[in-house]
Amino acid sequence: MIRGKIVGTGSYLPEKVLTNAELERMVDTDDEWIVSRTGIRERRIAADDEASSDLAYQASIKALEAASMAANELDLIIVATTTPDLPFPSTAALLQHKLGAGKAAAFDLQAVCTGFIYALATADQYIRSGMYKKILVVGAEVLSSIIDWQDRSTCILFGDGAGAVVLVANEGESGILSSHLHSDGSQAELLYVPAGGSRQPISQEVIDKRLHYISMKGNEVFKVAVTALGDSVLEALEANGIDGEDIDLLIPHQANIRIINATAKRLGLPLDKVMITVDRHGNTSSASIPLALDAAVREGRVKEGSLILLEAFGGGFTWGSILIKW
Ligand code: ACO
Repeated sequence: MIRGKIVGTGSYLPEKVLTNAELERMVDTDDEWIVSRTGIRERRIAADDEASSDLAYQASIKALEAASMAANELDLIIVATTTPDLPFPSTAALLQHKLGAGKAAAFDLQAVCTGFIYALATADQYIRSGMYKKILVVGAEVLSSIIDWQDRSTCILFGDGAGAVVLVANEGESGILSSHLHSDGSQAELLYVPAGGSRQPISQEVIDKRLHYISMKGNEVFKVAVTALGDSVLEALEANGIDGEDIDLLIPHQANIRIINATAKRLGLPLDKVMITVDRHGNTSSASIPLALDAAVREGRVKEGSLILLEAFGGGFTWGSILIKW
């Protein structure tokens, strides 16, 4: 049985740290509210000259180095992003050029905060089908470019960053064991960017009404996310015939510590088996899982044979999980 196996991880965070204390000076909020409602203490913000492909490049270089692989060996690059450099061409194509990955096909994938789960599952399917053997999967976001810095209900949540993994074809027992993907577009407007696409292109009116920024009904999203993620992790356990206690490390999408805690509880998992970076990264959308995965690898929390469960929920709505035997 051939499956995708991660053989290298890398990540990149912009230098600028934005603390809750600084946000207190920008909008009507306070550190205590942000920490108690979200668990976030600080997040990173890209420099003016940094776009998603720049962050993706830095993370990819580290992942390729960890995999001892040259960029020109890659067959495919998938970039999950909600904040592409440009409407087109894809950020993946720009990254392909920066890396010098001359023979790689490249495309972007959009599933908002579930983007990395969708991208990794897609890459695994290319490997299982035999079409490709070496794939770079990246989650990269400059969310600060679509944040309304006057909206206290959203601007405190998000951050910028990128994470990358190198996935190769593996014939052994280790690698991606299962992936489960879901979507429900019926409530798209609970979490969306109202304008800037083909429905309502950018105009002076759009800018004046601030419709090109993230709009979210946070408490309604929260309720759907907790239920969907709880169901999703149980689905992964059932499909693999395992119990929560078999999981060595849960690497959840880092949106909110309360959502993470609720999911760990549904799994019956103690918090020392949960990777938490939301305090230092905030919600980096599609970058959040590969950023947390790379931190876990570099902190020695992932060992050969470890069972790792990834899960995410995001705009769309989209949600899903991936189980990996490391
Ligand atoms: N500082 C102080 N007060 C605030 C702030 C703030 N930054 N933001 C909102 N408030 C106020 C509200 O105005 C409200 O006041 P009111 O009661 O007087 O009306 C009160 O705090 C409670 O607001 P809620 O929105 O009900 O707060 P909640 O406990 O739901 O927390 C949060 C908000 C953190 C956004 C939470 O709902 C959440 O995490 N939601 C899920 C987000 C998520 O997971 N999104 C999916 C992934 S993201 C993606 O796909 C791009």
